[in-house]
Formats: sequence, structure tokens, C-alpha cells
Amino acid sequence: MSKANLTFEDKKIELPVVVGSEGEEAFDISRLRSDSGIITLDPGYANTGSCTSDITFIDGEKGILRYRGYPIEQIAAQAEFTEVCYLLIFGHLPTREELAAFRQRLTSHTLLHEDMKKFFEGYPPTAHPMAILSSMVSSLSAYYVESDEEAIDLNIIRLIAKTPTIAAFSFKKTVGQPFIYPQNDLSYCGNFLHMMFAVPAEPYSVPPVLERALNMLLILHADHEQNCSTSTVRMVGSSQANLFASIGAGINALWGPLHGGANQRVIEMLQQIRQDGGDVAKYVRLAKDKDSSFRLMGFGHRVYKNFDPRAKILKQSADEVLAELGIEHDPLLDIARQLEQVALEDEYFVERRLYPNVDFYSGIIYRAMRIPTQMFTVMFALGRLPGWIAQWKEMRDDPHSRINRPRQVYTGEGERDFVPLADR
Ligand code: ACO
Repeated sequence: MSKANLTFEDKKIELPVVVGSEGEEAFDISRLRSDSGIITLDPGYANTGSCTSDITFIDGEKGILRYRGYPIEQIAAQAEFTEVCYLLIFGHLPTREELAAFRQRLTSHTLLHEDMKKFFEGYPPTAHPMAILSSMVSSLSAYYVESDEEAIDLNIIRLIAKTPTIAAFSFKKTVGQPFIYPQNDLSYCGNFLHMMFAVPAEPYSVPPVLERALNMLLILHADHEQNCSTSTVRMVGSSQANLFASIGAGINALWGPLHGGANQRVIEMLQQIRQDGGDVAKYVRLAKDKDSSFRLMGFGHRVYKNFDPRAKILKQSADEVLAELGIEHDPLLDIARQLEQVALEDEYFVERRLYPNVDFYSGIIYRAMRIPTQMFTVMFALGRLPGWIAQWKEMRDDPHSRINRPRQVYTGEGERDFVPLADR
């Protein structure tokens, strides 16, 4: 194993170099503080590996994304979402028998405990579905205790099976329609679309184009190594919090507009540009103006610096899905295309290597599928679920896992005497 040498004042510290299976190198600083009394400072963790992981490989410079070694392009073209769940969580592609058994287990756990239905009554109709989703997922821990390994295994199935039901019920709540119960003869994606769009008053059959599009969207979002929400799941899980509590925390982290919440903000931004007369150049100017807090939503990525491979797949598929749905002209799509064009040629964006990310196109497809804008981040959460679970499980099964506890460099006041209230 090669070593790096760090010299500071009179201290000489040796740092082992860890090499990943794709040749990624990292200085192992796990003994840095005990050997030297010094810590590292890395706000935003852009230079910090928080763990080793066998699940997902990303090369942001080359635009590579692989789940368990399989390129995202091949998975998106050929796999079914439940297959990807299995692959991420258990580490190998399921055989036909394994997949059939896995699907069967998922199908038999889609119903919510009837008491949980009452929770929905307490929310106002304006409640954001992400607020409902995160609290309902955390609440599953009140019903399904994590007593042993077998219970954990079953809870993983329950979580994947019940989350689409919670998500669809949260939508029905906002539109005031009755809940549509899961139907066992439908696929995972078909069942979700049925629970979203069917009403008791008339028959509904799931359009195959929507089922295919949803399958692909969920797959593209299924894992993305140590992003904000996944790191949150690992952070919470490192204290040995249960699966539902850890994933509930991840859902909340995903909600932010700089992360999964960006897909909702993309559509809102396009609507704003349209209402303001469609002047795309004005908004590009605004995004570049350092005195303005406006950012082009759906542009830029912490890791991808040339292109986001998921965005590349979605860009092509957006055209196909819209054509199949007979949407020839969509004013928001026109604005999106202009924005993309202007930004891709603009020096500011080129210099900073800011490209459309996955959220830029996913919002456009979800909108065409008639998924309401407020549900976009919920859709992201449905896709990310197997990734969060796989990462939580990997951390939990690792005998070297410790509670995550970063340090800080204190910059506040030095010691001073407390002033009693009467003297202030
Ligand atoms: N519009 C305008 N300027 C931008 C944008 C943007 N969307 N994104 C980054 N920049 C600029 C920054 O102002 C900064 O400029 P400077 O060097 O002159 O100060 C530079 O590009 C680098 O940006 P950072 O914020 O330092 O990059 P970071 O890696 O921290 O952030 C992020 C990445 C959060 C994705 C950022 O690009 C962003 O806010 N994008 C818009 C929100 C978005 O689409 N989020 C979804 C990400 S994908 C996902 O989570 C699934």
C-alpha cells in the first residue's frame, strides 16, 4: 500500500493511500487526529469520502454512472425497476425465480395499515406531499418493529411496497378524491399510476407509454452514491436508528431545491419565464448576476462536470414520450429548449461547466405524464428508495461502521463570564 507524507511544522504524518476498484485514490485520514491532533476542514464535503461502497460508481468527468458495475445506459434500456431494486440491495441481478419471488413479496405488502389512513385526515389539503411522505414513512416504524434480521428484511420489502401507496394517497388527499387501493395484477409502476389516476366512478387502464416512462425515470434515479439525501440516510442510520426513521430523514433532505426539489422548481421557473413574456435571455442574465440569488434550476451538478448521463438519456426520451403522448407543442418545453441552448453556449455556463442535470428533463416528462408539479420530488423519492435502502444496509452490515460524527473548527467567542439577567 502506498503512503502519502504530510509535513506540518515539526510533525511528519504518514497517510495510507486507499485505491478503489476503478483506480480512485484517497488519503486515509482516519488516524490523522489521534496521530497529530489536527483535523481536516472541508465545508460541503467536496473532497471527503465518507465511506467505501460497492454499490454505485460515478466518474463525473467522463459522465459515467454504474449500478453494481452495470452501465446506467444498459440498465435504463433493458431493466425493470423491481429488478434494479433487487440489484442495488442484494448486489447481483436476480434470476427469474429470485425476481418472481421478490415481486410476489412486494405485491403482498402494498396495503397500508387501515389506521394509517386516518393520518391523512389530519393534513390540510394544501399539504406538500413530501411533508406527508416523510412523516408517513417515519411512522411505519410505529407499526413494524425492527426486532431482528428477519424483521429488517421484511421491513425492506414493506418499505418498497408501501411507499407508492403512501405517495398516491397523498396526491388523492390534495385533490379530494377517494383513495384507490393497490391492485395485485398490476406491475409496480402500473399499480402506482392506477392508484394515482383511477377513480371509483369509471374504469382506468394504465397507458403502456406512461408505465414505460415511469419505469425508466425510477431506474435513472435509483442510486447516486453519497449525495445529500443518501449521506443523510447513512448519517441517521449510523446512530442505529431504524430503517424507516433513516429513510424518512433522507426524504426530507431530498426535498430541498438544491437537491431533489429542483425538479419542481424547474417547472415553476419555466412557468415564471413564460408569464414574464418568455424572455429567456433575461433569466440567463439574472442567473449570472452575482447580486441576484436566482439560479437556473436544473443546471449544474456537484459531481458531473461534462454531462449528466441520466440527463442525456432523459433528453432523448423526453422527445419520444411527448411524441407518443401526442404532445406536439408545449410552450414550457419550447422555453426549456431555448434555455438549454442559450446556457450551453454562454461563456458563464461553459466556464463553470454547468449543464442540464437529471432534474431539468425529468420535470418535463412528469409534466407530460400529468403528474402534478408538487408530486415531482415525491417521484424522485420513489426512484431513490432502493438506493437509500442499499446504502443503509451496506452501512449496517459493515462491522467497521461507526457513528458519524464530524468535528468542527470553532470560531466563536473565547471563555467569558456569564452576565446575570438583571445586569444586562
Ligand atoms: N445557475 C447559475 N449559476 C450557477 C448554477 C446555476 N444553476 N449552479 C452553479 N452556479 C455557479 C455558482 O454561482 C458558482 O459560481 P462562482 O464560481 O462564480 O461563485 C459556480 O457555478 C459553482 O457553483 P456551486 O454552487 O459552488 O456548485 P456546487 O457543486 O456547490 O452546487 C448545485 C451544485 C447545488 C447542483 C448547483 O449547481 C445548483 O444550485 N444548481 C441548481 C439546482 C439544481 O438543479 N439542483 C439539482 C441537482 S441534481 C440532483 O440533486 C438530483
